[in-house]
Amino acid sequence: MESEKGEILLLQGAEGKLYIGKHNGVTCLIKERFSKKYRHPDLDVQLTRQRIRAEQKAFERCKSAEVATPKLLGVDLPGRKVFMEYLENAITAKQFVDNAVSEGIENNPKIDRLAAEIGRVVGKLHGHNIIHGDLTTSNMLLDPVAEGEPNLPYRFVMIDFGLSYHSLNVEDMGVDLYVLERALLSTHSQVPELFGLVLESYKKHNTYKVPETIAKYEAVRARGRKRTMVG
Ligand SMILES: Nc1ncnc2c1ncn2[C@@H]1O[C@H](COP(=O)(O)OP(=O)(O)OP(=O)(O)O)[C@@H](O)[C@H]1O
Ligand SMILES: [Mg+2]
Repeated sequence: MESEKGEILLLQGAEGKLYIGKHNGVTCLIKERFSKKYRHPDLDVQLTRQRIRAEQKAFERCKSAEVATPKLLGVDLPGRKVFMEYLENAITAKQFVDNAVSEGIENNPKIDRLAAEIGRVVGKLHGHNIIHGDLTTSNMLLDPVAEGEPNLPYRFVMIDFGLSYHSLNVEDMGVDLYVLERALLSTHSQVPELFGLVLESYKKHNTYKVPETIAKYEAVRARGRKRTMVG
């Protein structure tokens, strides 16, 4: 779908839309957030700004954490837009797992390799006190590289930092891990071992209070379980 301005719509959701457009004459991905009519206008502006700022800050923090993200090209707060590099050949980690599953999951080295990579990157985020807030395989991109390893010929790129924040609190990290576990179990139920593999790698790559974080994760998980049993 191409508009008069040459914009191509990629995705239209309840929260906003994603399209290819221009920023200072350069082709890029534009993430635009809608205003919510049911929200008080002041609160609405505040929440949208908060999410755009969260995304902007996370891009900077990821740079110092050496976690790859698309390049941030700019933000337009009044226009509710974030402009970033468009990785046109990338696939999501979700697609990668789905493909691997269709090839057969028994001893599939591609799945092991991806899980190790997810654990490495989430470990690095937490090691730099970055809480992602929405860890799912749709928020992880794999950008093809020419000279990659056979089981994962991609560069791992993290996206969607609208719910992210900076925190030293291990409970926040435990919750981040629990969100990831829930997402992996529901999206990739054919590969129930995925989170366990991720966690192994996470423990190796995180450098910030790992035992405390794992203990919190387990406590959060136990609370979650109790809630499901009661509710
Ligand atoms: N820079 C990018 N290059 C290529 N594809 C992208 C890029 N950013 C996002 N995508 C694709 O668009 C999808 C949605 O992007 P994103 O997760 O940022 O939006 P969202 O989930 O709608 O965000 P939010 O939850 O913050 O409202 C991703 O799952 C991915 O497939
Ligand atoms: Mg997303």
